[in-house]
Order: sequence, then C-alpha cells, then structure tokens
Amino acid sequence: MLLLLLGLMAGACLSSLVPEQEKDPQYWRDQAQRTLQHALKLQELNTHVAKNVILFLGDGMGVSTVTATRILKGQMHHKLGEDYQLEMDKFPHVALAKTYNTNAQVPDSAGTATAYLCGVKSNEGTLGVSAAVTRSQCNTTKGNEVTSILRWAKDAGKSVGIVTTTRVNHATPSAAYAHSADRDWYSDNEMPPEALAQGCKDIAYQLIHNIPDIEVIMGGGRKYMFPKNTTDVEYGDDEKARGTRLDGQFLTSVWKDKKPRNKNAHYVWNRMQLLELDLDRVDYLLGLFEPWDMTYELNRNNQTDPSLTEMVEVAIKILKKNPKGFFLLVEGGRIDHGHHEGKAKQALHEAVEMDRAIGLADSMTSQKDTLTVVTADHSHVFTFGGYTHRGNNIFGLAPMLSDTDKKPFTSILYGNGPGYKVMAGERENVSTVDYTHENYRAQSAVPLSYETHGGEDVAIFAKGPMAHLLHGVHEQNYIPHVMAYASCIGANKDHCKSTLSSAGLAPLPSVFSGLLTIFLLLSLLF
Ligand SMILES: *[C@@H]1O[C@H](CO)[C@@H](O)[C@H](O)[C@H]1NC(C)=O
Repeated sequence: MLLLLLGLMAGACLSSLVPEQEKDPQYWRDQAQRTLQHALKLQELNTHVAKNVILFLGDGMGVSTVTATRILKGQMHHKLGEDYQLEMDKFPHVALAKTYNTNAQVPDSAGTATAYLCGVKSNEGTLGVSAAVTRSQCNTTKGNEVTSILRWAKDAGKSVGIVTTTRVNHATPSAAYAHSADRDWYSDNEMPPEALAQGCKDIAYQLIHNIPDIEVIMGGGRKYMFPKNTTDVEYGDDEKARGTRLDGQFLTSVWKDKKPRNKNAHYVWNRMQLLELDLDRVDYLLGLFEPWDMTYELNRNNQTDPSLTEMVEVAIKILKKNPKGFFLLVEGGRIDHGHHEGKAKQALHEAVEMDRAIGLADSMTSQKDTLTVVTADHSHVFTFGGYTHRGNNIFGLAPMLSDTDKKPFTSILYGNGPGYKVMAGERENVSTVDYTHENYRAQSAVPLSYETHGGEDVAIFAKGPMAHLLHGVHEQNYIPHVMAYASCIGANKDHCKSTLSSAGLAPLPSVFSGLLTIFLLLSLLF
C-alpha cells in the first residue's frame, strides 16, 4: 500500500516536471526545424586549412559519462539538465571511435594514446611504439618507435603544447613525445634494472630531451623531475612528494638550459606564479603544479593550483603568437580517476571542467582556421538508469525500490569497482548514507578495488576545417591522420597545394605555370 502511494506520488511529480512549453507539439517541431536548417548549412563543407589544431581528450569519458555530465552541468545552472547543451554537444560533426588495443578488447590509456596521437594502434601499456613492442620489454623498443602529431606539427614549424590534469608523464600526454615499452616508467626509479641497463629512458627524461622545444607543458608530476629525496617545494615534510630520480638530474633546470639564450623560458609551480606571467614575454612555459597528479577540481586549492580552463587560456595565448599556428593537446585526465575510484561525482565534475575549457578555447579561436576535436580514449563501466524522472538529481535515487531486496538504489551504478558493499549479508541501504557526497562510491555489481575501463566505442566531436572527415565509425588511430590532413602536416602535406587554392589563399603554383605556358607559346612564335 505504502509502495503504491509512493508510486502515485512519483507519478504526480513526473507530470508536474514537464516544462509547460514542451507540452505543445509546436515546440518540438520548431526545435527540430531549426536543427534541420543548421544541418543543411553544414552541406557547405569547411575545407579551409587548419592553421591550428586542438585535441581535447577526456580520459575515460565514455558516452554515458558525456550524457551524465550534460545533466550535471545543466543542473549546476539550475536547469532540469537533460536538454542542456554541453560545449562539445554544439560541435557539428560527431563520429564513433573503436578503442580496442592490438592485444586488448578493453583498452588502456597508453595503447589508445598511441592510436589517437601517433596514428598507429599498439599494445596496452605501451607508448609511442608499434605493436611489435611487448610491454615492459625494453629490448623490443628499438626501431619500433612511432611519432605523434605533436612532432609532425613541430616539424612543420608550428608551436606545440601539452596541458593535463594528470602528471605530465602520464599515459595520455606521454604518447605525444615519448617512446616507452611501459607507461609506468615515470622516472628511472620506476624502471626495472635490466631496462635501464639496456638503455631505455624514463618518460620524464624523454619529455625534456626528445622534443626539447615544446612551447607549453602544464600539469602535475614534479617529483619525477628531481633527484631522489629532494624535498618538494610545496609538501616539504611529505616523504611521498620527494624527488625520485636515480640519475641525479634536476630536469626543470635541464629544460631551461636547453632553451635558446635569447628566448624567455619560465618554470612555475603554483597558480599565482602562472597568473602573474607577462605572456607576451613568455616563449616557453613549464608548469608543474603538484608532485603527482593535480587535485580533483572539486578539491582544488585556488591559491596553488590553476584550473584546467586557466591552463588552457595561458597555453593558447602563448601558442597563438606563432604565425604558422599550433597544435595543443588538452587532457581532462582525472575523469578516469574518479571513475576508477567509483567516485562518480568527482569524475563528472572533472568532465564539466573540461567542457568549460572547451568553451573557452572556442571563444579564443575561429573555426575558419582551427580544427577542434573532442574525444575520449576509452569508456568506463559507468551507467545511470532506473527510470528516473525528468530533472532528477543526477546523483539521486531511482524512483523505486528494488523488487527483490526492497531497498532503494542510486541511478548511477558501476559494473564493477570499490563501491560494492554488503552489510550483514545484504546490499547496503543507500538511504542510510550520503550518496550525494563528492567521495561517495556508487554501488557496483562486482567488488574490485579499482573499477575498470569499458570496451564500447567512444564519441568524437569535431569542429572546424575538415571536421566532416570524422563522420562514421572509425578506428581510433584514424583521428591524427584527419588532424594532420586538415593542417597540412605529417604524411598529408602534399594534398595542400590544391587545398590552399580552394581555401582562397594564393594559388601560386597555378599562376606560375600559367605564366610559364604563355612564355613558352611566345617563344615558339618568335
Ligand atoms: C532503508 O533506510 C531508510 C532510511 O533509514 C529506511 O526508512 C528504510 O526502511 C530502509 N529500508 C530497508 C529495506 O531496510
């Protein structure tokens, strides 16, 4: 009887929550017609040259995460949420990426980073190398290195940047500059002795030495840059924050020493230093804001740590100074960590922050000359369901009890992970805990201390020159090939002679050959 009453109340709630305008069919017809007009305009393709390319990578940002992030961001703006538009939702072209690694159905972030940055699929756990490399086997590396779009852009004279909320030598950013048989080789301290003996270099070392003129590097990961036991500038007493390097190198100094004398290179380690920089006078920037990964956005210290959006703003201002354009990799790297910990609220707020950064980048660039791609490396076993009513708190309960154990359940659940909880032989009653807390771990079906990635496709959102080439279900390694084609770099430089003329830029070769023909004809006559 009580249940029935609750059901009726939920039903009443449901109808009262439908916005008045949505009851009028004309509302939906008008909305669809506007979308149709917009879609028809997209038939005129943007075939300009992408002077700039920005890749936003939401680590672990599967489609269910994108949808939940949309609802959360809408609710943060006091809307119902479901009909809200993320910045990435506004991108005109969307495709799907198949994320598997060469040796894994459900991939990891290193193998996938190699795919969407280097254009080649590889084995899980390996970075910037082909599938001929076996994880952790240093001696399989040589000759199997593959280069990334960051390198191709640099070779074409563009400025390049890496911005992440993880360690700058974590899986995603690393594939842009490093070649490593193991993603865990953060510094030489984390490498097995035989790998060191065989001459393999750690990832932090490679960040400073492989491509020494990366204009912008920002994120966490200070401890891997300093000799073992060096006290950290911010966490002096904390042993875990101390330097790790066995080779005794101070990599932040090495970084600075490798820059040309007539250029301004700045190393900063906190937000105030970053925001005080006169960016007109900064040629190179290294910002390392934590000894390890940066903190979650919800726990961020506004004195010491910049937000992802703030880092992106600084990066674009520096990179934009190059008349040849830039390539920027931005990673919302801790969406993944929130999910792994079963902390959906942390994960989704990380994704909201990345979406804010996408909006800012959009306002600082033009789609006439900037290709922006937003995607994820892989998904998670994160889901939300339970027939929740319109406008239900995204972290809230489903409007029903389990018909089996008679207990409530949250809409958000994980397939596996640390949120599995059995109390006295029964599933925990979530009504007795604060399931909207930022560190609440949503329930999972299988107990695991670390929730796993998901194996389904991820979305690719694209905007700007040649964005329409991302148009269907693609292998993930196709993405950098499109970005390179659009910006006339790497293997796809040559098509640009014709593209340049179609983009309305000086069609020099054809003018030249025309003059040559006239000259030849004249010389035949006389
Ligand atoms: C779950 O907890 C709520 C709040 O304490 C309580 O009202 C409800 O009876 C509990 N349900 C079960 C099945 O124990």
